[in-house]
Amino acid sequence: MSESTPEPSAADTKTVAVGIDIGGTGIKGAIVDVSTGELLTDRKKLNTPEGGKPDDIAETVKELVASLGDIPAEASVGICFPAVVRHGVTMSAANVSKKWIGFEAEKLFEKTLGRDIAFVNDADAAGFGEATYGEAKGKGGLIIVTTLGTGIGSALIYDGVLIPNAELGHLEIGGVDYETKAAYSAKEREDLSWKKWAERLQVYYETLEKLFSPDLFIVGGGVSKNHEHFLPLLDLDTPIVPATLRNNAGILGAALLSTKRSSLVE
Ligand code: BGC
Repeated sequence: MSESTPEPSAADTKTVAVGIDIGGTGIKGAIVDVSTGELLTDRKKLNTPEGGKPDDIAETVKELVASLGDIPAEASVGICFPAVVRHGVTMSAANVSKKWIGFEAEKLFEKTLGRDIAFVNDADAAGFGEATYGEAKGKGGLIIVTTLGTGIGSALIYDGVLIPNAELGHLEIGGVDYETKAAYSAKEREDLSWKKWAERLQVYYETLEKLFSPDLFIVGGGVSKNHEHFLPLLDLDTPIVPATLRNNAGILGAALLSTKRSSLVE
């Protein structure tokens, strides 16, 4: 913990949780006050180990958690990961090692860290974080949060309730898994201009609109900080806004979901 950040005090501990966000290139984490969505420590980041294999990632997460300093005993730990997660088991691996398919991920992290954790999809965590602390705070109806990065992540939130594992990045449009056309990685890989990329995003969000009739789209992922280059080019009936939590959405959402989970599930 850096000298500039306050130690969580005893009075805070009920609402203190750890959030860890595992990605293809980096693993980030912080101690969070889930009542306010504030980071109580600096955000720490370690590189995702080469190959992204389960044991290596679990050891890196252990190192990251240790680097956060003293964690209050009452604090829960939430970890998010870029795969379908059902009852702690990772069921897919679009942009990570195939070893995660059908893997008891939550158990591995619990064993490695020596404590209970909550384990959730990365876009679900980021979306839930945004809906709770960010742009959609207090808004009812159907909100679709998408994260545009290496893949396209999605979270469906209806009247504040998260419907997990939506996986809308893999919608098949024109016979292709559309994440391969419209993720930010596709823009980079194919060196697309903002305009050309926005044309693909137009097709993507129009399809989501047709299927779900949402009340609001929120667009996250690192590229959302450059939203003025592509969001104004989209012509949709649904309001579409950039995410506000940026790189902290996954950390905050994972931390928050861990507190919900520990109160709802034994
Ligand atoms: C994965 C999702 C993940 C998204 C963003 C997709 O390829 O299938 O589970 O949420 O990428 O990381």
